[in-house]
Amino acid sequence: MIDTNSSRKIVVLGTGGTIAGYSALVNDNISYDAAQIDIETLARNIQGFKSHVEGFKLAFEQVAQVDSKDMDFAIWEALARRVALHIAEPDVQGIVITHGTDTIEETAYFLRSVVPSVKPVVLTCAMRPASALSPDGPQNLLDALSVVMDDKACGVVVVCAGVVHAAEHVQKIHPYRLDAFNSGEAGPLAWTEEGRVRWSVGPIALALPDRDALSLPESGSWPQVEIVLNCVGANGKVVDALVTHGIQGLVVACTGNGTVSDALMASLLRAMSQGVKVVRATRCSLGRVVSIPDALIPDSQGLSPVKARVALMLSLMP
Ligand code: SIN
Repeated sequence: MIDTNSSRKIVVLGTGGTIAGYSALVNDNISYDAAQIDIETLARNIQGFKSHVEGFKLAFEQVAQVDSKDMDFAIWEALARRVALHIAEPDVQGIVITHGTDTIEETAYFLRSVVPSVKPVVLTCAMRPASALSPDGPQNLLDALSVVMDDKACGVVVVCAGVVHAAEHVQKIHPYRLDAFNSGEAGPLAWTEEGRVRWSVGPIALALPDRDALSLPESGSWPQVEIVLNCVGANGKVVDALVTHGIQGLVVACTGNGTVSDALMASLLRAMSQGVKVVRATRCSLGRVVSIPDALIPDSQGLSPVKARVALMLSLMP
């Protein structure tokens, strides 16, 4: 914990990821172990960290320490509760969360759906481990802090490689490049430049969610919602099997403008007749399903399959 006399506080929550990764070899950017270094050590080891956050009181908390491919609902529940509790404190300016790149877009969208606060919640990450010859995590963490300290920042965003993305739009688009994220047709919200934030938009109209992290049911009881893919030869058997296993919701990563094969459609309609909620998203990486008025299955309103899954899951909770 770093303390100053300031009344403005930033809370930094660690969850693991490559940003906290370590390898004994400095030139190893793929075989390292993710989630090895605690958040306070990571931050303290950044040159210039102290002066970057001058005037702010910092509090560190290790909520989890995982490779984000293993992110789970229990961690989401714990994380959302910590965010909700901290953000409600009058002296807290905002929150920074370090996270693995692989599922950061899902966590960002989840938090955006359960944290009804205008204060900034800034997720950041890295594509190279902390032990790399030239790690990207330290700059990304400083950039995330710059965003949290900016008066215009609000809501849940993701910062990586100098670009600020909205939780709704951000997508990991590259498995290796440092600038691995994109906001598609929406474009970035802002860029970070030498500790300053240059916004691409005017005043941000933040739509706050109805749901509150503190009233979520216990994560063990969250509804089971899966994603199925329409692809050549998709025959719907996977849907039938999931229904047999008691699935409550299904998101279909559809081809093109929300289309599915006849066989998959037959299985989906059968699933719906048994009470399973189904939503269509597109597997295209840009754009959204342009819906037709009499569509049998509702579309995801522009959400990607993974985010549509989060939205459907939350909509199925009491
Ligand atoms: C992870 O997602 O935790 C590992 C990969 C990364 O952070 O880039």
